[in-house]
Amino acid sequence: MQLTNRNALVTGGAHRIGGAISRALAEAGVNVFVHYGRSEAAAEELAAELRSLGVRSAIGDADLSDPRTARNLMDVATEAIGPVSILINSASGFPFDTLEDLTLDALRATMALSLESPVMLMQAMADQYEGTDGAIVNIADVRTLTPYKKHFSYTIAKGAIDTATRAAAVALAPNIRVNAVALGVILAPPGEDADYVEGLASNLPLGRAGGVEPVTQAVLHLIENDFVTGEIVRLDGGAHLA
Ligand SMILES: NC(=O)c1ccc[n+]([C@@H]2O[C@H](COP(=O)([O-])OP(=O)(O)OC[C@H]3O[C@@H](n4cnc5c(N)ncnc54)[C@H](OP(=O)(O)O)[C@@H]3O)[C@@H](O)[C@H]2O)c1
Repeated sequence: MQLTNRNALVTGGAHRIGGAISRALAEAGVNVFVHYGRSEAAAEELAAELRSLGVRSAIGDADLSDPRTARNLMDVATEAIGPVSILINSASGFPFDTLEDLTLDALRATMALSLESPVMLMQAMADQYEGTDGAIVNIADVRTLTPYKKHFSYTIAKGAIDTATRAAAVALAPNIRVNAVALGVILAPPGEDADYVEGLASNLPLGRAGGVEPVTQAVLHLIENDFVTGEIVRLDGGAHLA
């Protein structure tokens, strides 16, 4: 799939991993709609940087804790940069909860943000896309294979993203391919520092955190390679082997 002049929507695309994906897409010639929740200033700054690369870029907010906003977000993005043929579902929460303390409301909130909104965005993209080489990449988590104790609802939501990726790949074939990257230790979570990440990374077979570059490389590859669908690529420094 050629990337130049395609139009992408990146959720949570203003900074951190989503921001790196927005930038990598623009560097490859893709017009990028940067979705944000609260990070308006970062989104504006990034969109200006992307426009300076010669692509179209616009920003828009949507509170994805309400999945009913997904369709409007897709409409706004389409209006701003043109029909969306690339969707990156990166926005997510990372709440602390355990099976013991989890409330039904908290479980539903996590599922709304990290599962239902990505699914409704896939549906909305498919409804407006009329071409034959669309691509969706969902950002998943390798810890669905070795679940966290303290991020119980998140682990369930991301596990369902794995299944949603495969189910959507079947549902949307042949015109839209759907893949995922399952991330391990990439960046420190918000509020944690480099020591936290180094502590986690030291236990990995590769002994280091990934940083954003392996993520952007894999996302671009999954978009470009037109014989891959339903695939979940682990980017985890070998964590699944440890
Ligand atoms: N960091 C890692 O090492 C790691 C490891 C495994 C998986 N992942 C996955 O990789 C993806 C990106 O990770 P990250 O660490 O860069 O994420 P992050 O810093 O936690 O950011 C998540 C993004 O989601 C957006 N967001 C959160 N709540 C929202 C809401 N209610 N409505 C709209 N947007 C909302 C935020 O946008 P605003 O800032 O604009 O509010 C933010 O850009 C996530 O799916 C995460 O689960 C990351």
